[in-house]
Amino acid sequence: MIDYQEKAVILIADDNIIVQEMLGELLTSTEQPYELIFAENGEDAIEKATTMLPDLILLDVMMPKMNGYEVCERLRNHEKLAEVPILMVTALDDRESRVRGLNAGADDFISKPFYGEELLARVNTIVRLNRYRGLRDERAKLSDANVELVSLNTQLQQMNDELATAYDATIKGWARALELRDQETQGHSQRVVAMSIHLAQLYGITDLDALNSLRRGAILHDVGKMGVGDGILLKAGPLTGEEWDVMRRHTIYGYEMLKPIEYLRPALDVVLYHHERWDGGGYPEGLARDTIPLHARLFTIGDVWDALRHSRPYKAPWPREKVISYVLSEGGSGFDPGIVEVFQEAIQDEVIWE
Ligand SMILES: [Fe+2]
Ligand SMILES: [Fe+2]
Repeated sequence: MIDYQEKAVILIADDNIIVQEMLGELLTSTEQPYELIFAENGEDAIEKATTMLPDLILLDVMMPKMNGYEVCERLRNHEKLAEVPILMVTALDDRESRVRGLNAGADDFISKPFYGEELLARVNTIVRLNRYRGLRDERAKLSDANVELVSLNTQLQQMNDELATAYDATIKGWARALELRDQETQGHSQRVVAMSIHLAQLYGITDLDALNSLRRGAILHDVGKMGVGDGILLKAGPLTGEEWDVMRRHTIYGYEMLKPIEYLRPALDVVLYHHERWDGGGYPEGLARDTIPLHARLFTIGDVWDALRHSRPYKAPWPREKVISYVLSEGGSGFDPGIVEVFQEAIQDEVIWE
């Protein structure tokens, strides 16, 4: 990339030392002096131009071995130098040699003997225009790249959205599969999602990612029950102590099952900790108070609410008022008392908290 703060570089190709010195003085005594490279013949000029990539080449026509026209042609055929501005310095002020120079690829001419001010003015103009053109080309490239980047980003976002939709459809499928096995909890996962999100929003959670994690955790909270055998999961009577031990393991089974799925990792708090109690009497780890992740503390109220409001093999559904009293009485023991306060506000919505 061109550094526009850097001095412009001019290659002077002239076999005459006196001309070299004159030009050198002229081009370095200006307000913005140029950096100069000198070449004494055509081959030398081509070689130096190739390595230094100057902003302008001042090219003498009459040089030994290879004349200026030939040098000019060779530069124009060079991949890196085809665009470099070439100002031909010639003692021949006739039309024929100018036409020849133009055909060889020169951009402009100046005749020897030259007027210092005129030469400097031309050099300044050519260098400025060339640098401006370079800048414009780079800006155009950048702008093209930007447009492409925006389009790529949009595509990526779209693919991400599609992927998230596909994932969510998959996890809903898992939840339905579990509900099919565990008849009496039909619709349970959908209802607890609605209650958890409602409670979380009233509690002040607005972040979309956080709400999505809670939603996924709620859908999947009991997915670990897939690891519990029918004999226990579908048992009509009360469970024995040992059977309860197995049943309680569904939190860990769910966690183990989902842990390798990066996308669901933020949802694991609910899966693993949805049976913890505020007073530390829950499972699987017996966490208490704030050490229980917030999403699990929010979720558990809706989960208990729904279990009590619906019939289970071992109990009839409780009336709404009885469930409300129960949840309120559990503030500070089973549930986070701060969230129970928000619950009182939440149950005004009798569609979600039916
Ligand atoms: Fe559970
Ligand atoms: Fe549940």
